[in-house]
Amino acid sequence: MVVTGAAGRIGSAVRVGLRGEAEHLVLVDRVGLAARSPAEDVRQFDLRDAEAVAAALAGADAVVHLGGVPDEAPLPELLDNNVQGTHNVLEGARRQGVGRVVLASSNRLTGFYPVSTTVTAEMPPRPDGLYGVSKIAVEALGRLYADKFGLSVVCLRIGSFEDAPTEQRHLATWLSPRDCLGFVRAALTAPDVDFAAVYAVSANTRRFWDVAAGSALGYTPVDDAEAFASRIPAEGDAARGLQGGAYADAEYTLRHL
Ligand SMILES: NC(=O)c1ccc[n+]([C@@H]2O[C@H](COP(=O)([O-])OP(=O)(O)OC[C@H]3O[C@@H](n4cnc5c(N)ncnc54)[C@H](O)[C@@H]3O)[C@@H](O)[C@H]2O)c1
Repeated sequence: MVVTGAAGRIGSAVRVGLRGEAEHLVLVDRVGLAARSPAEDVRQFDLRDAEAVAAALAGADAVVHLGGVPDEAPLPELLDNNVQGTHNVLEGARRQGVGRVVLASSNRLTGFYPVSTTVTAEMPPRPDGLYGVSKIAVEALGRLYADKFGLSVVCLRIGSFEDAPTEQRHLATWLSPRDCLGFVRAALTAPDVDFAAVYAVSANTRRFWDVAAGSALGYTPVDDAEAFASRIPAEGDAARGLQGGAYADAEYTLRHL
């Protein structure tokens, strides 16, 4: 199995979580990593290098593609790292016959929906910024490679990955480390998937997203941010009325233009 973005926040958790489950774990990042066991094989390169990506995927049964820019940034940076990087992963997976591709998508692809709307994965995207736009392209590439080339692709629309919720928005969007691993495992093992896009979010009482498709992957989240609600300070975030909260502010994107 290959994990891209293995040095990152989620990649580090997945690395630990999958330890013992994958016979051979190829860990890819553009920053240096050190192998911690004989089962780990670390590769340092940039995902924009298509040949290096294809070489890392040789012989792999699955890839969890987490590498990329995880927030608002100038569009060229997002196109290069997120869109071209994902294309290289999918094209490498096609060439190498990789059985399952799990792509890190984001809740920010629908951040412009009002908080009062329960959003399903079938609803049209309403990105809250350029980062969300890049994740629409990531999912579209996944769909193309599933439809046209028969790859099995699962896009996880990751919520807010945090040890614990710390702000009001997290009461809806939190993804606990335990649930994150549950979704990643399910995305790797769910049988008979051509293409699926699912919200990876904990079982938060206040969540914005329909998780029925997620449970179709065979995983039902267990944590609920509500348990932390009394410790989270009140703030203006929720008053914006949009699921993306502060991310949906014009200024949040304008400072990258
Ligand atoms: N953290 C969240 O709450 C969250 C929410 C939604 C989606 N996601 C998505 O999940 C993925 C992982 O997020 P994270 O929070 O762990 O981010 P992170 O920034 O901690 O990790 C991303 C990793 O990818 C690597 N990387 C970036 N561009 C690269 C490139 N061109 N070549 C090689 N390596 C590259 C970075 O070095 C980094 O180690 C991202 O795709 C992000 O968009 C994260």
